[in-house]
Amino acid sequence: MIDKRKNDHIYLASAPESQVGDSWLEDVVLIHKALPELDLEEVDTKADFLGRRISMPFIIGAMTGGTELAEKINTRLAKAAEEVGVPMYVGSQRIGILKPEARRSFEVVKQYAPSVPKIANLGAPQIARLPEGEILRWAEEAVAMIDAAALAVHLNPAQEVFQPEGEPYFKGVLDKLKFIKSALKVPLVVKEVGNGISREVAQALDGVADIIDVAGLGGTSFVAIEGLRAKPEAPQLYEVSEDFRTWGIPTAAAICEVRSAFKGPIIASGGIRSGLDGARALSLGADFFSASQPLLKAAMEDRVVEALRKIHMGLRTAMFLTGSANVEELKRAPKVLSPRLEGWLRQRGIIC
Ligand SMILES: Cc1cc2nc3c(=O)[nH]c(=O)nc-3n(C[C@H](O)[C@H](O)[C@H](O)COP(=O)(O)O)c2cc1C
Repeated sequence: MIDKRKNDHIYLASAPESQVGDSWLEDVVLIHKALPELDLEEVDTKADFLGRRISMPFIIGAMTGGTELAEKINTRLAKAAEEVGVPMYVGSQRIGILKPEARRSFEVVKQYAPSVPKIANLGAPQIARLPEGEILRWAEEAVAMIDAAALAVHLNPAQEVFQPEGEPYFKGVLDKLKFIKSALKVPLVVKEVGNGISREVAQALDGVADIIDVAGLGGTSFVAIEGLRAKPEAPQLYEVSEDFRTWGIPTAAAICEVRSAFKGPIIASGGIRSGLDGARALSLGADFFSASQPLLKAAMEDRVVEALRKIHMGLRTAMFLTGSANVEELKRAPKVLSPRLEGWLRQRGIIC
């Protein structure tokens, strides 16, 4: 059952129907600098992530594991991550903890990407119902499985509502996250899966999460994916999911929401489709950016290195054209926000 779900997610996420809404990143216009006073080759895109130097502030998003197809995808993603020098997440590891035969589909990541930081992954609804001793065992096992430098816990309440076999159990999650933070030796990343994190949630996570990944609206939608999965057996679930297709906080707004309340590093994700989108996200206050669906598609076609190089080139070009010699300068590059994004921030009392 869980194996089928993993493969359904891969196939449905690769289809255009899974891509919903707008990230609002085009509402951020970086100001062109006709006098960059730099040579393109001087632009330094490197960054530090979890104690290691990486080639650009980009992370391959959390996707999969648990099936033969997932193992093939994780192998291709890991080989490319190692070659290009970027970190990577894996998908939820519950299946690897409960089914020893599924472990290999995650372990390939430490085999093929030994030197880049890797991020383990568990879901909030699962940890909500486990006693603390079990949570620690799961967390330690997930980290060991891929030799991870951090553990991510994903918050996905909208997905759980529309998933036919969903587990919308979110009571007590914050306390469980606090427990993980106090007991686990590696840093804790808290992420959404495409509906975004607000200022209020970021406030609650301040001092609990070491890193927040905003995973906003505007790219892959698990409301859409689960709705489509539900359609044949539970048409009502599908119909209600249609009303919630664009539910969530657009990524550009989510970055500003989180930055206004959270002091730690922020990963921007959700509909980031180019190095230029990444540059816009960094100018809003993110420290890193991440994409999932485009790399899933690239992995299916065995061209992940090419996809990563394209993102790198886009980022480097945006840095050159704003006269930013390094990532810190890009974060301070002048920009103009569209009235739509400006209005959101004004109503929310956020300066971005
Ligand atoms: C096939 C697929 C499976 C995913 N599974 C997980 C998961 O297990 N855990 C998780 O934290 N996020 C998962 N995600 C969500 C992504 O990490 C990301 O938040 C979301 O796809 C938005 O990014 P995107 O628009 O670049 O795809 C998955 C995404 C895809 C495409």
